[in-house]
Amino acid sequence: METRLTDLGQLGVLSFSVGAWHTRGAAGSWSGPAVVYFVPEEQAWHVFLRMATTFVCAGSSMMLYYIAESAAVNLEASVIVLEALLPEGIIIPTGFETVGHIAHLNLRDEHLPYKKLIAQVVLDKNKPKIQTVVNKTDAIQNDYRTMQLEVLAGNGSLRTMVIESGLHFQVDLGAVYWNSRLATERQRLVNDIFRDSDVVCDMFSGVGPLAISAAKKVKYVYANDINPTAVEYLERNMVLNKLERKIEVFNMDARRFISSIYSSQHVHPVTQIVMNLPNDAAEFLDVFRGILRNSQSGLRCVMPMIHVYGFSKAEDPEHDFNERINVALGENVDSVEMHRVRLVAPGKWMICASFTLPESVAISQPNHISS
Ligand SMILES: C[S@@+](CC[C@H](N)C(=O)[O-])C[C@H]1O[C@@H](n2cnc3c(N)ncnc32)[C@H](O)[C@@H]1O
Repeated sequence: METRLTDLGQLGVLSFSVGAWHTRGAAGSWSGPAVVYFVPEEQAWHVFLRMATTFVCAGSSMMLYYIAESAAVNLEASVIVLEALLPEGIIIPTGFETVGHIAHLNLRDEHLPYKKLIAQVVLDKNKPKIQTVVNKTDAIQNDYRTMQLEVLAGNGSLRTMVIESGLHFQVDLGAVYWNSRLATERQRLVNDIFRDSDVVCDMFSGVGPLAISAAKKVKYVYANDINPTAVEYLERNMVLNKLERKIEVFNMDARRFISSIYSSQHVHPVTQIVMNLPNDAAEFLDVFRGILRNSQSGLRCVMPMIHVYGFSKAEDPEHDFNERINVALGENVDSVEMHRVRLVAPGKWMICASFTLPESVAISQPNHISS
């Protein structure tokens, strides 16, 4: 009997794995891998009453065990065990997201006293796919859009590999942005909107899920991010997917990036621009005012499609977002196609607005200061 001794936090529970276990108590004889929880007596009774089949008495403390046999992601099993372990009245955490080998919980305040217990159960019931369990400790607020994470169980590594649409992405969840829930939206752009002849400019590329996926299909991609670590991973991911020849990488503020792309004699005229920074992207649109004012006549012919993302809590989110776009561009844009990406919170939509940059905007007097 041995392997792992885990401090499960305020519940005061200790757990360890056993290779074989033969009970003499109510559960009868059993052998196989298990996790045994030593639970303080008051809590053990509570647990026992709700999970009356599996317990044994040892000295003055109670031991509760469950079988940790599952190899697959086994959320249902986690829920059953947590129902038995958590005090009555507490809502059982029923979901977690996975990013590679990392399970990412979003625990409510009421769960925090039991966070290590919850994480350990999720880990035990979802091995070997899950190796690390983390909780998001704060809303995403920083410029690099990274999550503040607390490692609760497992090996603690936040570096992982994600496979999306057959492509491989290395990600360090502690240092870069990643959201698997946007996979469908990325595929919508690549499959339904981009054409083989397109040249794509990804202004907020992160580690490259859209840029790399697009590069598989389109003629060329310019990808930029302000976060040097995201750019480092982007470059690795380009090599990993053998697409480095089709992507040029930049590490600068998105305004400077757009200004330098349009002021240089870049070989490929841009046809599609993606702005995935939903909190603020609309306010970057003024960078396109006058962008083609001084360029050669050839470039003037190519008015790119812009796909800009935003959030809205308004009753009419499309109208609300359109207004923001008009204000930032300095004129009203006709024919904006709106796509609801997903509900990110009750009443809060993430929206993608797609429109062709009006020539009047592209050759107008700029009203921003480029750095
Ligand atoms: C919401 S994430 C999207 C990343 C990527 N498109 C994806 O789907 O994974 C936004 C990205 O914009 C980057 N970013 C934030 N402010 C920026 C700026 N002013 N210029 C360029 N990149 C910026 C962040 O570092 C982050 O990687």
